[in-house]
Amino acid sequence: MGLAVQALTGLVSDMQVISSITAMERQSKGWAARGEKVGLVPTMGALHEGHLALIRRARRECRRVVVSIYVNPTQFGPKEDFSRYPRSRRQDLALCRQAGADVVFAPGNLYLPDHSTFVEEEQVSLGRDGASRPGHFRGVVTVVLKLFNLVRPTRAYFGQKDAQQVDVIRRMVRDLNVPVKLVIVPIVRDRDGVALSSRNRYLSPEERTVAVEFARRLQAAARRKGDPVAWLRRELKRLPGARLDYVELTGDRLCAAVFVGKTRLIDNERVK
Ligand code: PAF
Repeated sequence: MGLAVQALTGLVSDMQVISSITAMERQSKGWAARGEKVGLVPTMGALHEGHLALIRRARRECRRVVVSIYVNPTQFGPKEDFSRYPRSRRQDLALCRQAGADVVFAPGNLYLPDHSTFVEEEQVSLGRDGASRPGHFRGVVTVVLKLFNLVRPTRAYFGQKDAQQVDVIRRMVRDLNVPVKLVIVPIVRDRDGVALSSRNRYLSPEERTVAVEFARRLQAAARRKGDPVAWLRRELKRLPGARLDYVELTGDRLCAAVFVGKTRLIDNERVK
């Protein structure tokens, strides 16, 4: 299908919003019975161009596209931003429709009151974000597996910005033999270089300038010869307005996190 036609299909398509778990299960059972290729884009809403890149890619590759919108409580620590996490349902639905989603799966709650089963990855989730956010990946992996079971996607789309999340989900899929192909989509950056994130909307104008400098220094480090980790660590420690969380080289990706005010920013770049 040509791009223009595809965009038009997205615009005119009658997107369905499903909030009940049983209705989602019924829908995915029907698709599976007909052997249709289903793409899932799991999100927590507050959608931006980074999410839209995932949805558009799924639209190009799959017969059915489901975007899940669910702010998953189990991946937030007690002192984290669960209650103030940005929620913009009307705008999210409009963006999903424009990007060509067939279904938005937006359950009110995915956990029964006596839910007591969690999935824990015990290697890749250690260190980096896992160290700063204890329990975070246990919540992510659990909800992602629940979504996979409910939607039964052929392909699932994740952004490279959450590098450790990608690694942990990849490991869970491998270890638990989950029949899904993961598609990892490159980071989308704003014009000033900052990696798109729903949490960027917490930043004040002054904090935004710190975020720009964080992205610049990370990219400069990834281009440097020598020891990019030591260089970036030094540069970020010196960056006014930022508090260094970590810098690490994982495979060929230089990964870093800083706190800017109360907001924690993560980013990564392939080393050249
Ligand atoms: O990346 C996110 O937005 C979330 O961690 C995910 C994968 C939707 C699980 O809640």
